[in-house]
Amino acid sequence: MSGTGRPYQTDMTAPSHDRLLIIDFGSQVTQLIARRLRELNIYCEIHPYQNVTEAFLAEYAPKAVILSGGPASVIDDGSPRPPRAVFGLGVPILGICYGQQVMMQELGGRVERGHGTAEFGRAYVTPGAEALDLLEGWFETDREQVWMSHGDHVAAIADGFKVYATSPGAPFAVTADPDRHFYAVQFHPEVHHTPNGARLYENFVRIAGFTGDWTMGAYREEAIAKIRDQVGDAKVICALSGGVDSSVAAALLHEAIGDQLTCVFVDHGFLRQDEGEEVVGMFRDHMNLSVIHAQEQERFLGELEGVSDPETKRKIIGRLFIDVFQKYANEIEGAAFLAQGTLYPDVIESVSFSGGPSVTIKSHHNVGGLPEKMGLKLVEPLRELFKDEVRALGRELGLPAHFIARHPFPGPGLAIRCPGEITRPKLEILRKADAVYIDQIRRHGLYDDIWQAFVAILPVRTVGVMGDGRTYDYACALRAVTSVDGMTADYYPFSHEFLGETATRIINEVPGINRVTYDITSKPPGTIEWE
Ligand code: XMP
Repeated sequence: MSGTGRPYQTDMTAPSHDRLLIIDFGSQVTQLIARRLRELNIYCEIHPYQNVTEAFLAEYAPKAVILSGGPASVIDDGSPRPPRAVFGLGVPILGICYGQQVMMQELGGRVERGHGTAEFGRAYVTPGAEALDLLEGWFETDREQVWMSHGDHVAAIADGFKVYATSPGAPFAVTADPDRHFYAVQFHPEVHHTPNGARLYENFVRIAGFTGDWTMGAYREEAIAKIRDQVGDAKVICALSGGVDSSVAAALLHEAIGDQLTCVFVDHGFLRQDEGEEVVGMFRDHMNLSVIHAQEQERFLGELEGVSDPETKRKIIGRLFIDVFQKYANEIEGAAFLAQGTLYPDVIESVSFSGGPSVTIKSHHNVGGLPEKMGLKLVEPLRELFKDEVRALGRELGLPAHFIARHPFPGPGLAIRCPGEITRPKLEILRKADAVYIDQIRRHGLYDDIWQAFVAILPVRTVGVMGDGRTYDYACALRAVTSVDGMTADYYPFSHEFLGETATRIINEVPGINRVTYDITSKPPGTIEWE
């Protein structure tokens, strides 16, 4: 996870919980291990291997240890190692990928360079002759899909270890010394492409004797303590977008530091029907937060006049947003921190699975660059969470259920659902069509099955006939996708009846639209938004 920092490093202490220690060797997916464990209500912390000294181990007293994957080769001099004391703790240890190799090397096995045996991507492992507690209930058929990502491979296993599963490229796909409860797997059980990987974590923590008492309530308490610790009595400003992330961040900060927090809600003119009033109303009137409602619709629309290139639009909106935000933030005297609802996927998005930089598909809209410019420090209380965890935290904080369950809404809002030039009349049409579409989805009880649904107004007008007359109006596209994290997505399989009824309603209720299409592109190759 080069260059992005390690989001789940914490100095939190959780004396009432059994703790698991994840020793991080730099894999991009280490954070996913923490997530899988949190799903099991296990308290864990990720610590970079350099920080895990014997003294640290003694103080942290883990009940189990996981050695993460990582980009290095154990064969290279100076490659990352855990302290030897880890293996003397007498607790279960699970080594994953690089963690597996380092475990073998340290315990007397042998690792070789992977010429010819490197495996990247999907692979299938088959069980060995003997049963292993770690694999209990894992093999539903005679093979399990796993995700491999290794160049080197274990050539000889350490004393006391036996083989419990193999794959074509990894004869030692799963090995273990069951007496010591040391387990070593060559693949990544934490990623989605190892569909039943969670089962291995479940088994591992059961073997280690965890009770699973780490809840979102406990997380909330510790997150609050951490914010107070970081912020002290300084003032914090927060860009509130009305989306779930910034809303949960604001609610959490408010609970932690009360009126030291001021939120700025920028209305750029690309919000959905009644959205601005709803958001400001909820936070200001019901939650008693101090919210500045920045009405800047004219400025955004003005600067976007005549612009139709998607990246140029995004850049203009991003720049204006920062300018506008800064203008209002400057009015808040003595602010020292800027709060952001950055989530874990935002943290990993800039780095691809293979460790290389990923290409820019879209310039995401955020307040990047602002903290330096304004001399502000960042508070990112959601940096280690995934979307569904943020929702759980929001519920925990008492935000209304319908608000928490809202689909994600992008920072640039309707602007990226309006390909071509953005005009006031087009935005009006789009707002109305979107409201009808979402109403349809809610009426049919489908809202919660869908990750994101919206209308895009197309930059094309087509001929139609209504009553006895000719129409020449805009076409729109309905979009609805299912997704786990927004990184990949499938179109939602609405029934023909639903689509037909929705098209009829939109055409009847929204002047300006005379043709409705349904977008059945998955991501990839499409993206979720149209721009
Ligand atoms: P795409 O269109 O890239 O979208 O498949 C993936 C997810 O990200 C949201 N999205 C954004 N969110 N600022 C945001 O806050 C942005 O600039 C932005 N662009 C896309 C999109 O709505 C989807 O959930």
